[in-house]
Amino acid sequence: MKTLTKRKHSLVKNSPDHFRVLGDNIISGIDNSSNGSILSRIGNTPLLKISKVTKGINPDVEIYAKAEWYNPGGSVKDRAALNMILEGEKSGELKKEKVIIDATSGNTGISYALIAVVKGYKVKLALPSNASEERKKILRAYGVELILTDPLEGTDGAQKLVRDIYEKNKEIYFYPDQYNNPANWQAHTKTANEIWEQTGGRVTHFVSGLGTTGTFVGTSRRLKQLNPEIQTVSFQPDAPLHGIEGLKHLPTAIIPGIYDESLSDKTIEVSTTESYEMVKKLLREEGLFVGISSGAAMAASLRLAQELESGIIVTVFPDDGKKYLSEKFWDEL
Ligand SMILES: Cc1ncc(COP(=O)(O)O)c(C=O)c1O
Repeated sequence: MKTLTKRKHSLVKNSPDHFRVLGDNIISGIDNSSNGSILSRIGNTPLLKISKVTKGINPDVEIYAKAEWYNPGGSVKDRAALNMILEGEKSGELKKEKVIIDATSGNTGISYALIAVVKGYKVKLALPSNASEERKKILRAYGVELILTDPLEGTDGAQKLVRDIYEKNKEIYFYPDQYNNPANWQAHTKTANEIWEQTGGRVTHFVSGLGTTGTFVGTSRRLKQLNPEIQTVSFQPDAPLHGIEGLKHLPTAIIPGIYDESLSDKTIEVSTTESYEMVKKLLREEGLFVGISSGAAMAASLRLAQELESGIIVTVFPDDGKKYLSEKFWDEL
């Protein structure tokens, strides 16, 4: 074992030899050599080419999607949650005895839950009671305390409640406040760098949905630094009451503090029905079992593609479809 440890340090980190020598320090492909934790697997998600549902668009237009369900918590929100927690630790605001509290439609909650388990924190979350059953079950399985809020008030209702609880008990809680925390969008500087590298700098358009707006704002801001010519396109549900979990209809919602409208070169509205239909198409034609906001992302990207003669469009598929299996649209073939 001693020899193993000695040799380990003489090898280039993450090289094939490094992994071979580490041997049983690696469990199920998790690189335990950095800090021994699954958190080192957040980010660096695959970029997939979408090639079948794109039939009919100009052959000089290509569409790619970041497969964010490859993050260990199963969604894009691992990136933001980890960065907000790391920033909280760095600033001294998050101490071991504090409870992490926030409002979330589910995915950020799952990310907090995962990170909290690894780092040894407790988590309390408010979410609308109509969030998918699968998400609520996953959160409870992690040991998270849930406060269910009025579904008609959406995530805005959950946000108001959490702010109230936090204001009254600041010494007990750490409130990352994902809608107003710059560490949310800053996490996506890395998402943009990945897209830039994975496309060899060829990306011309970025398409993303708006929830907390962290993914859109952070990725767009960095892509425009890398190449100011890149067009960044946001999309949102076409109605206040919609079924695209994770996204906001901004004209009728509280605008997140981190949102920067000036980054949006174009805005697209997507209906719940077309998102459901695209989820089925992506599964049955591409073999991609994605969530509803990914269906919406594909629908928005296709709409943009139809206007272009050439280009490399990159979008984000925030999570996979397994958490939405109880949705009724699956019963309609
Ligand atoms: C499934 C899903 N899609 C999209 C989003 C939106 O991402 P963002 O909050 O970065 O705008 C979320 C956010 O929670 C989500 O859960």
